[in-house]
This record gives sequence, structure tokens and C-alpha cells, in this order.
Amino acid sequence: MTLAGTTAIVSGGSGAIGGAIAARLAAGSCDVALIDRTPAPAAVAAIQSAGRRAFEFSADLADAGETRHAIEQAVRALGGLAILVNAAGVTSFGSAAELEAPEWDRVMSINLRGVFICCQAALGPMKQHGGRIINIGSVLGKNGGNARPWLDPSEQESSGNVAYGVSKAGVHMLTLYLAREFARFGITVNAVAPGPIISGMTRTFPENLRALIPAGRMGRPEEVADAVAFLAAAGSSYITGEILDVNGGIWSD
Ligand SMILES: NC(=O)c1ccc[n+]([C@@H]2O[C@H](COP(=O)([O-])OP(=O)(O)OC[C@H]3O[C@@H](n4cnc5c(N)ncnc54)[C@H](O)[C@@H]3O)[C@@H](O)[C@H]2O)c1
Repeated sequence: MTLAGTTAIVSGGSGAIGGAIAARLAAGSCDVALIDRTPAPAAVAAIQSAGRRAFEFSADLADAGETRHAIEQAVRALGGLAILVNAAGVTSFGSAAELEAPEWDRVMSINLRGVFICCQAALGPMKQHGGRIINIGSVLGKNGGNARPWLDPSEQESSGNVAYGVSKAGVHMLTLYLAREFARFGITVNAVAPGPIISGMTRTFPENLRALIPAGRMGRPEEVADAVAFLAAAGSSYITGEILDVNGGIWSD
């Protein structure tokens, strides 16, 4: 598969999904710049072992100035920008009844505003030659959260994730808006909406929820990365404003 370009920025590259995406894009002939608040030695090693150039820039996505600066540095190091993948994100637990406002703000600032800032900062460098923006959403941004009556009632407060789900719904809608606004520049904007994927975020994923996945297992980060590579591929040039489910059948719409 030929990728749309040879330069990519991936946020969240020190995480499971971002790391797999970075490795997959490098295998598909991209130089990759990673933006994260923690170092990503495994992703750097994977990019380099694919024979591509790897760069790392530290930024807290909750900080708009830091994030813009990291994107600028990454574009300069890469010598251009063809693909932006927004995979950084934080999970958050808390029911709508109990969630404190600062936690709501923290999640929105990283998961939603951080993605917005990255997309906005990528527009300038992508405008001239076109490009691909791929945001990582979530099934929880589509389904209104997991209905969990099967859980012990005492677990229900801590297993709600209203801020997370709403932030990811925002990422999906941002994707639709940007798809329309950026289309005239030859930039496609799509999202991948994973279901439960094996990662640090789901280390404590409850067995009873796992049992509900029609595919019978959790997904692998590489399965998300393959969907991202598909959307980044040359042949996907007419796909924009799509939210691609990668969820083992746990939710269909
Ligand atoms: N694991 C799942 O089941 C699942 C399901 C649906 C969506 N997702 C989404 O996939 C993406 C990757 O998640 P993952 O499962 O690999 O989790 P992960 O925790 O392994 O990776 C998240 C990455 O984001 C980075 N990050 C977090 N906050 C940041 C900040 N403020 N600034 C910069 N970087 C920051 C972390 O350092 C980490 O590298 C996230 O957006 C997540 O919401 C995950």
C-alpha cells in the first residue's frame, strides 16, 4: 500500500495505539515525528528499524502554545507534512452525577481542544500539497457510554466515563467540520473509532465487558494502525468525513 505522503506527525506515540500507528506508517515509507508528553523509545526504534527518520517533540496537549510549537518544530524537522494522526488522549472515569468541573476541563483540554489545535496548526503546512488528518475517536463517543446494569451497582459510579465519551464525540464532530472546511485544500479528515483495544488505558478492562464483544476478544493496537494506514493511503483520496469503526462488532451505526 502506498501512503499518501512520506512525512507524518503522530501524537501519543509513547502509547500503545500511537506507537503502533507510528510503526505502521514508517513501514509504509513515512518519516515520523512523534509528539507526546512522555518519551517514546519503542516507537522511535520501530520507525528507525523500518529505515525511516524519527523525531520526537515533547508537548502537553493541554497547553495550546506548547502544542503549536511542537507541530512547527516537527514540520521543520520533517521538511513538510503529509499526514497528521491525533492519537494522544487520556481516559477519565466519573459519572455525570459526580464528576467535578476541573476533571471535565482536563479531559476536554487534552482530548478535544488538543486535537483541534493540532489540526489547526497542520493546516498551513498541508495547504499547498494536500494531506491527511486522522483523528482517533472512540466507540464511547458514539454509544452514550456502556450500559452496565450487569455490574455490581457499587462499581457503576467509577465506571462511568461521561467526560471521556463527550470529548470523543467532539472529536468525531470536529472531524466532520474539518472534512468540509479543508476539502478545498485537498486535505481529507477522517477518524477511527476504536472499541476496546489492549493498552495501558484498558489494563483493568472488566471481564464481563470483554465477554460482550462479538469478536470474542479485545482489539490489538496494530488493528487500529491498519485502519489509519488505509485512510492515509493514496487510494483513500475521496474518503473524507468518515468515522471508521474498529470495534469487533461491539457497536454498529
Ligand atoms: N485503548 C482503547 O481501548 C481505546 C479505545 C478507543 C479509543 N482510544 C483512544 O486511542 C488513543 C490512544 O490510546 P491508547 O489506548 O494507546 O492509550 P495510551 O495511554 O497507551 O496512550 C495515550 C498516549 O497519549 C499521551 N498523552 C496523554 N495525555 C497527553 C497530553 N496532555 N499531552 C501529550 N500527550 C498525552 C500519553 O503520554 C500516551 O502516550 C487515545 O486517544 C484513546 O482515547 C483507546
